[in-house]
Amino acid sequence: MSESWLSVKNLSKHFDTSKGPLKAVDSVSLDVNKGDSYGLVGESGCGKSTLIRTILRLLEPTSGEIFLEGREIAKASRQSIRNLRRKMSLVFQSPHSSLNPRMTVYDTLARPLLVHGITRNKKDTTIEIVRLLKLMGLQAEHMIRYPHELSGGQKQRIAIARALAVGPEIVFLDEPTSALDVSVQTKILKLLDLAKKEKQLTYFYISHDINLIRVVSDKMGVMYLGKLVEIGETSTIMKKPFHPYAVGLFKAVPDPDPDKKLPELLLTGEVPSPVNTPSGCVFHPRCPFTWDRCRKEVPVLLKQEDGRGVACHKYS
Ligand SMILES: Nc1ncnc2c1ncn2[C@@H]1O[C@H](COP(=O)(O)OP(=O)(O)O)[C@@H](O)[C@H]1O
Ligand SMILES: [Mg+2]
Repeated sequence: MSESWLSVKNLSKHFDTSKGPLKAVDSVSLDVNKGDSYGLVGESGCGKSTLIRTILRLLEPTSGEIFLEGREIAKASRQSIRNLRRKMSLVFQSPHSSLNPRMTVYDTLARPLLVHGITRNKKDTTIEIVRLLKLMGLQAEHMIRYPHELSGGQKQRIAIARALAVGPEIVFLDEPTSALDVSVQTKILKLLDLAKKEKQLTYFYISHDINLIRVVSDKMGVMYLGKLVEIGETSTIMKKPFHPYAVGLFKAVPDPDPDKKLPELLLTGEVPSPVNTPSGCVFHPRCPFTWDRCRKEVPVLLKQEDGRGVACHKYS
């Protein structure tokens, strides 16, 4: 049993490859409270998409536990996964590939409503679709459109409307705006925020973009090579990241606040392959503070005085 609304414990997802097991997600633990906006940040390839796909049970976990409202779902049966699909939905990164080009907006939105028995006849379905379109700042006449008749931003708003159609409690957003222009991005984030308030949703954002995570989340995690290296309140971590990887990652992005100075540290080298990961702390080959212990011992996430968790021997 866990007290958090969504709780992930030592969750791993390893893929079999010809070179050996690829540890895309390696013993990740995190907690999300109802109503939170959680942000997960990390470079491309660090395992963010795999983590949420495993939580959503689109991928079978290799090991670990997932609790939703205290119920273990990592081993849930196919039947109960169907019910979970209503509670947890996903918005994909690319609206261009996630919408079926042969389906009108109406059909795209009607499908989840009918499959889950949310509406049972054409009249109710249409009413609900108009409501969803309005929620995403679109009009009823968009119903008859095909994806190719819509802009990138409109497509992504349809994809979000589809994710909201089933009346989810939590929405996972996988780089929801990274394919879009900044102005369109801002508009969509505002619409998402309004929908969150109206429907009392919980959001789980993942992005490689620190400035996005800064804006949208109140709690966050920093991921590196399949592991969470720092977790806590977004404001606390953004003000002063502790983990050398987080420091380097934030340093690489200009902060909108010029008064904030982070210690000099730039990420050098490449992200190692998740097959044959480095011994001890997976960040040690790129870390300027590496000492003996870092090569030998895997650091665990330890709670610090200000409430954040850091997996680094410098802070243990
Ligand atoms: N189906 C798969 N089979 C093998 N390796 C995969 C598969 N899916 C993802 N990976 C690998 O897992 C790692 C994490 O990928 P991903 O979760 O997509 O990262 P992110 O979303 O942070 O960019 C990468 O090394 C990627 O190549
Ligand atoms: Mg991804």
